[in-house]
Amino acid sequence: MATPRDTFVDALRESLHAARKFERALTKMAEAARNDKLRSRLFGHRDVTGRQIERIEEVFGSTDRKPSGRTSPAADALAREVPPSDLEIVLHAIKIEHFELAAYKTLTKLAEGEKMRRARSLLEKNASESAHAANQFELMVSEVEEEASQAAS
Ligand SMILES: [Fe+2]
Repeated sequence: MATPRDTFVDALRESLHAARKFERALTKMAEAARNDKLRSRLFGHRDVTGRQIERIEEVFGSTDRKPSGRTSPAADALAREVPPSDLEIVLHAIKIEHFELAAYKTLTKLAEGEKMRRARSLLEKNASESAHAANQFELMVSEVEEEASQAAS
């Protein structure tokens, strides 16, 4: 039977796989975005994601387990999609951030149960950055929506 530590490590592997996929997906979405602010937010968050990956790798360092061996079909599906319009890109980015937020919150809880203080604080940092990014993208929705309806009229 899987121990809580096994569950934690598997969830961490999934998040590492997901973050690497999202880092590339954010680059593709940024390149596809027409709105300058949206493009720069996407590139900016791509860089934040790079630092989140480093934190997950640091957490792995404290577990003595291999970071490989697990993928995330849900993250793969989210990362594969590059939406065709700015509005759909920003909505998709929000979806990705909420997916990450849920994963980092779960991991934070598991790290707490495992009494891994440093891991917990690193994962909390990732959770709060994902929440912040979701919020920043949400703030862009009406602007992008406005542009889309002007272009259509
Ligand atoms: Fe993110």
